[in-house]
Amino acid sequence: MHTIWLSLDTGIDDCFALLLLLKEKDIKIDGIIATYGNVELEKTFKNTRDVLHFAGYDDIKVYKGSASPLVDKPCYGYDCHGKNGVNNIKLVSSTAPIENENAFDAFYNRAKELNGQMELVMLGPSSDFANTYFRHPDIVKYLKRVVLMGGSFSGGNRTSQAEFNIYADPISSEILFESGVDIVMAPLDVTLKSYFDLDDIKTLSSFDNKLSHLFEKMSVNIMKFYYKNSGYHRFFFHDACPIVYLSDESIFKSIKCHVKIETKSKLAYGKTISDYDCDIPYEGKEVTALIDVDRQKFVKHCFDIYKTY
Ligand code: RIB
Ligand code: CA
Repeated sequence: MHTIWLSLDTGIDDCFALLLLLKEKDIKIDGIIATYGNVELEKTFKNTRDVLHFAGYDDIKVYKGSASPLVDKPCYGYDCHGKNGVNNIKLVSSTAPIENENAFDAFYNRAKELNGQMELVMLGPSSDFANTYFRHPDIVKYLKRVVLMGGSFSGGNRTSQAEFNIYADPISSEILFESGVDIVMAPLDVTLKSYFDLDDIKTLSSFDNKLSHLFEKMSVNIMKFYYKNSGYHRFFFHDACPIVYLSDESIFKSIKCHVKIETKSKLAYGKTISDYDCDIPYEGKEVTALIDVDRQKFVKHCFDIYKTY
């Protein structure tokens, strides 16, 4: 059984990753931190609570996390996720009480209580980890590992070199990757292979349940965005990869490598650079990087859960 805290910037793929996670039998969500990223914090906080309400999980606590990166201003993803983060759909508002405790203290205290059993899953920028680290540097002692969607060893999606989650706050990502915590990362190299194609989307629609109806409404614009950028009619399910990995590692192929974050170059700001298979490796702790996926098994894993909604 995995006990996790989740940090996400609920946007569209975050939303469906959360709906997947909620029904994973081997994963218990101990707490959630909403962070800025795809859209402003106020919106991701509301979206996260509303998605839990939609699925009937109002009991899971959601805390307000980071509102901006450590340096610079936030860069949002309105063109992909819409101005409100969920394709401008109006979800039924959550009636759960608002959590007022500081998110980073709440996360740290639970990690300490669980004494090394807790895993942090991150589906947005790394700012929540960095803000916790500044307040409680020994958080690394109490975290089993961090499993995140982010980075790319090939081209970027926010810039030609950088993937959105890392680009949003490269300094926080550097703090995470240099902290010594065990890391599993799902870069674009694997998440762009983890997609629903048009046949899969037809199958999903055939479930004719509240999740499939929500997907039909919420995916319209993002599918156009992905087609414009990639030339494929595919729903790239970036944020599901850490979730599916936690549940069944065998669906993925991974490598061990050192990863450095580019925080100086204007052109490559936020690029994740791996030393995999090179003659002169970097120093420090290696990370586990997912680089390939059995897509059929990935889709089946998601659909076996989605058909239960
Ligand atoms: O690059 C993909 C990532 O950026 C995903 O987490 C998506 O939600 C956006 O935040
Ligand atoms: Ca995300």
